[in-house]
Amino acid sequence: MSLPRFALDLLALPPEASSVSKGIDALHATVISISLVGALGVALLVARYVIANRQRGTNEVTPRIESSPKREIALGTAIFALFAAFWVVGFRQYVRIESPPDDCMTVYVTAKQWMWELAYDDGTSEQNLLVVPVGKAVKLVMTSRDVIHSFYVPAFRLKQDVLPGRYVTLWFQATELGDFDIFCAEYCGTSHSNMHGIVRVVSASDFDAWKARARSTLPDTASLANRGAAIAARKQCFACHSVDGSAKSGPSWRNLYGSTQMMRDGRQVRADEAYLAKSILDPNADRVAGYANEMPSYTGILDADEVSALVAYVRSLRKGEP
Ligand code: CUA
Repeated sequence: MSLPRFALDLLALPPEASSVSKGIDALHATVISISLVGALGVALLVARYVIANRQRGTNEVTPRIESSPKREIALGTAIFALFAAFWVVGFRQYVRIESPPDDCMTVYVTAKQWMWELAYDDGTSEQNLLVVPVGKAVKLVMTSRDVIHSFYVPAFRLKQDVLPGRYVTLWFQATELGDFDIFCAEYCGTSHSNMHGIVRVVSASDFDAWKARARSTLPDTASLANRGAAIAARKQCFACHSVDGSAKSGPSWRNLYGSTQMMRDGRQVRADEAYLAKSILDPNADRVAGYANEMPSYTGILDADEVSALVAYVRSLRKGEP
């Protein structure tokens, strides 16, 4: 269900341009409409009782009015059921927003005072411009170089805080062609309000043409994964991690991405981008069962771009990944 134009204008909402926009607007509009009807009903009842029960004589005693418990329980239950229904719909939307599909295109986002840097798997990168094909699921793997920022695309109805020292993900599927604003929605310093970018949603063929053009300025070996492999060699990662599945003092990177790992405290954790990045920055936090606490933290040693490149490299070591 899509909101009519006048309703979008009335609520000052931008166009609905992602796969979740319409559902979120529908819930938003339903909650607002029911609240308005409820408030109007209460106001009318107040007016009615003010008039009906106005003081008529100076010696009149206010009558004691008892309500029926049955009615009170019925009213309470009905209102609770209504709010529970809002919650059920909202929770299902939340789960959908939190669960990226498996065949996402990945873009690495680094926020810094005061711009957005977007890096693609093939080694190309942009500032403040995120180009994506329409209808394709895109997963953003995001971190900040300095303070807390918040990645906000109003037309997609999506917002996610971006934190230094941590990697968070957000996925979306654009449904409309065009340019849409990216705002920073967390006050991050003097130029916070200028921290603005564009999501450019283009057709699949335009996207391929744009990619080819951007890539033509780079050498063939410039992919993010290749950069990650070079960083891994330089930082001696291979002393402890194999890439062919053989055993070393740390888990092998072969087929690690996307697998489910058992932690030493018994938790099961899926090795996604956020997990891989966290394990580089804080290796002991989610340590795989059977491995010693030997790996040093790379916080402050690797910058955000290098961590993204390493994550892209580990990802490329899974069967079926580009
Ligand atoms: Cu970045 Cu506000």
